[in-house]
Amino acid sequence: MKILVAGGAGFIGSAFVRYTLEAYPADSVLVVDKLTYAGNMENLAGLERLPNYEFVRGDICDRSLMQELVANCDAVVNFAAETHVDRALVEADAFIRTDVYGVYSLAEVCKSASHSLKLFVQISTDEVYGPQYEGAATEESPIRPTNPYSASKAGGELLALSYHRSFGVPVIVVRGSNNMGPRQHPEKFIPLLITNALEDKELPIYGDGLYVREWIYVDDFVRGVDLVLRQGKVGEVYNIGGGLENQKTQLEVANAILELLGKPKSLIKHVADRPGHDRRYSIDSSKVQALGWKRQYGFDAALEATVNWYRANEGWWRRIKSGEFAEYYRRMYERR
Ligand code: NAD
Ligand code: DAU
Repeated sequence: MKILVAGGAGFIGSAFVRYTLEAYPADSVLVVDKLTYAGNMENLAGLERLPNYEFVRGDICDRSLMQELVANCDAVVNFAAETHVDRALVEADAFIRTDVYGVYSLAEVCKSASHSLKLFVQISTDEVYGPQYEGAATEESPIRPTNPYSASKAGGELLALSYHRSFGVPVIVVRGSNNMGPRQHPEKFIPLLITNALEDKELPIYGDGLYVREWIYVDDFVRGVDLVLRQGKVGEVYNIGGGLENQKTQLEVANAILELLGKPKSLIKHVADRPGHDRRYSIDSSKVQALGWKRQYGFDAALEATVNWYRANEGWWRRIKSGEFAEYYRRMYERR
């Protein structure tokens, strides 16, 4: 298989690229990434020597470039997106451009290439279901996104699915829960807390700290995406999540990080809540489990592996935190 991975220089995309090249040495991977503030060539370091790997800097909204790239591929997996809820709450333009228009544009390209293309996997999120106060959302549950990020992701996946139903484009949608692991941008909760704690800085907790997220280790998620890519049914949606036992509040996560790092609980600081903050996400992953997928990491093992990676890779996160991120952090947190 030749796989086009859009957004492959980001957190999950780069883990998927690394996994694919290792597990399927006979396959080839072509990465396309715009290299926004979240894209990072360091995430793909070492792969350039492989003959079956190639990187192209580009935008999924660039129809002619994408036409050229898709023409030679058997499958497209689209991780490319604006991904941070807090940024979407300040300025959503880029979210609508990439997460809605970009997916539509990619679906158009896949439509014209559909004679050769076997699959277009659109990576979506459990946030499209909106808050689940009890139980777990199945793929059949209604989608009720509540913030500009989740609404944009819902728009993108609905357009992709509409291209399957209207034009026969071979689309599959994956809805993932909160990933953790190496190379996640420090704007996100877990890497922000780990790196702040390592720097003896306060750990900002929105609101009462009792908002629940379903945590999954990125390697488990990536294996699920790979299984869906190779064995999933066209036209279907698959949830891939950490499961009920790995649902944690922010305070539980913060306490576990401080414990692992031997830092004091006094670093925890409650700050103003995120507007429209969804109380709890929860998804039922039995459909992908029926394909044979199983998680290998529980929350504790996943967090320990993640903490160890950030400890061992200070250069990676310090380069990000000392750049334009410093100004972002001041703007978002100083008077919060
Ligand atoms: P990320 O922000 O780390 O990476 C996104 C990547 O997309 C970056 O490399 C960026 O440069 C690239 N990109 C952005 N706009 C682009 C464009 N117009 N054209 C080409 N490339 C572009 O994101 P992530 O956390 O790795 O998430 C990957 C995907 O998984 C996203 O679609 C996200 O919505 C989804 N998702 C993430 C999580 C999570 O917990 N991180 C959970 C569920 C679903
Ligand atoms: O659920 C899947 C989604 O998970 C993905 O689709 C998104 O791309 C990804 O960013 C993530 O969204 P969240 O909003 O859940 O992730 P975030 O890391 O921003 O926040 C996790 C929880 O921690 C959430 O309840 C908000 C809270 N939080 C976050 C930050 C950044 C804090 O309490 N303090 C913080 O400083």
